[in-house]
Amino acid sequence: MSTPTALDLASGLGGKIDKSQVLSAVEKYEKYHGLYGGDEDERKANYSDMVNKYYDLVTSFYEFGWGESFHFAHRWKGESLRESIKRHEHFLALQLGLKPGQKVLDVGCGIGGPLREIARFSSTLVTGLNNNEYQIARGKELNHTAGVDKTCDFVKADFMNMPFPDNSFDAVYAIEATCHAPDAYGCYKEIYRVLRPGQCFAAFEWCMTDSFDPHNQEHQKIKAEIEIGDGLPDIRLTEQCLEALKQAGFEVIWEKDLAADSPVPWYLPLDKNHFSLSSFRLTAVGRFITKNMVKALECVGLAPKGSQRVQDFLEKAAEGLVDGGRKEIFTPMYFFLAQKPHSENQ
Ligand SMILES: C[S@@+](CC[C@H](N)C(=O)[O-])C[C@H]1O[C@@H](n2cnc3c(N)ncnc32)[C@H](O)[C@@H]1O
Repeated sequence: MSTPTALDLASGLGGKIDKSQVLSAVEKYEKYHGLYGGDEDERKANYSDMVNKYYDLVTSFYEFGWGESFHFAHRWKGESLRESIKRHEHFLALQLGLKPGQKVLDVGCGIGGPLREIARFSSTLVTGLNNNEYQIARGKELNHTAGVDKTCDFVKADFMNMPFPDNSFDAVYAIEATCHAPDAYGCYKEIYRVLRPGQCFAAFEWCMTDSFDPHNQEHQKIKAEIEIGDGLPDIRLTEQCLEALKQAGFEVIWEKDLAADSPVPWYLPLDKNHFSLSSFRLTAVGRFITKNMVKALECVGLAPKGSQRVQDFLEKAAEGLVDGGRKEIFTPMYFFLAQKPHSENQ
């Protein structure tokens, strides 16, 4: 696939939002968050609007910096970021034991980078569920270019209320997406409903770890930066996710924070002290150049007004993520493999 240019970034900025409304969308988005006086209850009550605004505003930045897969990865020494991202996706396919021809659901699929990789890796039929129209339109173009539009498709819907019959998928996975749910139990229960009995759900969740102290002001600040920078209503603790899974009816086969034994820290690509040519756009220097480029594009009217403000909250996210990772109070890869029992009363 071709690498997005600065003009692709500018033209995609705002997603489905009218270009003249980008600045007011940024203002509304910011007001949902603690750093601008917003509160958790309001974010949860309006999660759909808050999360969709966020992805309309940031998707072209994500694609410009990350490529087609919008997630972090467990990484070995000597492995490039791109290789580790693919291996992280293959890991899910392997854990789910995917077999050719199976029907798989990707919950919160972004523009479909993982979905295309997993479908090709495992010869499965993957449906991507996403509530963001702009990302789905982009994902369809990329499926077509990749030649997987016969085996991969997209459905626009909210993962809290899925338009699928009970027991319709052989496997379900979610990569750094269900953290956007206003309530984990409600989301996992929907996943449980659409999964066939005896089959598995695997995910990488964004969580605060046991080292997070809710009374520590610095920890609170880091959590708030990640929430505003990443469109999250409230980051849950690992144990809350585990409890929600069990409550939804799943049997947890195994779970672990994979960040704990990643030889290369997952946050390294964003760390100010790190430099890499292969993931240059994500580095502090790369982000500084992008910031100035966006400023110039906004000045000459090629990027909509408000674009720089989007870059600002993404920069906050990068700082919060690196601090949260370094202090080990936050992880983007709390992994679990959970099975829906063969019968309800098992
Ligand atoms: C960080 S992105 C991860 C995307 C993808 N899993 C990947 O790794 O490339 C989170 C995704 O979850 C989707 N999402 C958030 N809330 C959602 C909801 N309520 N229903 C469906 N999708 C949702 C977003 O639109 C976005 O595509």
